[in-house]
Amino acid sequence: MNKQSVVLQARAVSKSYSDAGNDVSVLSDLDFSLHKGEQLAIIGSSGSGKSTLLNILGGLDEPTQGEVIIDGRNLHAGNEAQRAKVRNETLGFVYQFHHLLPEFSAMENVAMPLLMRNLALDEVRAESEAVLDAVGLSHRISHKPAQLSGGERQRVAIARALIGKPAVVLMDEPTGNLDRTTAASVQELIDGLNQEHDIAFALVTHDPELADRTGRVLELVDGKLVER
Ligand SMILES: Nc1ncnc2c1ncn2[C@@H]1O[C@H](COP(=O)(O)OP(=O)(O)O)[C@@H](O)[C@H]1O
Ligand SMILES: [Mg+2]
Repeated sequence: MNKQSVVLQARAVSKSYSDAGNDVSVLSDLDFSLHKGEQLAIIGSSGSGKSTLLNILGGLDEPTQGEVIIDGRNLHAGNEAQRAKVRNETLGFVYQFHHLLPEFSAMENVAMPLLMRNLALDEVRAESEAVLDAVGLSHRISHKPAQLSGGERQRVAIARALIGKPAVVLMDEPTGNLDRTTAASVQELIDGLNQEHDIAFALVTHDPELADRTGRVLELVDGKLVER
């Protein structure tokens, strides 16, 4: 694959919710392409549909119409188990509020996607240690989420998104709850991973500094993406 190849594509995606008999249209005939190794930001006012879009791109929610193709596969075809398999093999997702499992250590949280692939435990452990090291947390592998700072928790969530070597990482407000210094270190981490491993990143963000660091900024307006 060259740098121009598309790893994630949304075609004519619409999403509406029925609310007390009224149809609320959030996404409207939206097209989107993310290329291998690209880093882009999706911005938009609160309620414009950024999380809805990211959830559909990540297979966490279904479009009302249209399709999402990841790594050549239709994400919303097939049953739940098939979709989970495609997601596990191709996607990393970082939620706005990290969604770490509180009763598990950093290492166990990070290991989860590989455990779902039924890999040998030795291999899972080695990979988990390597990815925690890559996000600067090799000294925190046995800590549970409550014993970590906000920035450390976000790094664990990023490590979990990266461990399966996905082609695409989707992040919803990755620095939204972090102070300036911690946000800057998360920004550097994303840049480094993007450059070293050619992982494509799509970041939903309110943070103009983070958006400006990406190569491309798209704004969600009236249910469609507009180049900025
Ligand atoms: N499950 C739902 N049912 C009904 N409306 C929803 C649901 N989820 C989101 N919405 C509506 O869709 C719009 C976009 O929400 P969201 O994607 O969370 O926006 P953003 O992330 O840009 O702030 C909002 O008006 C929200 O109220
Ligand atoms: Mg949101």
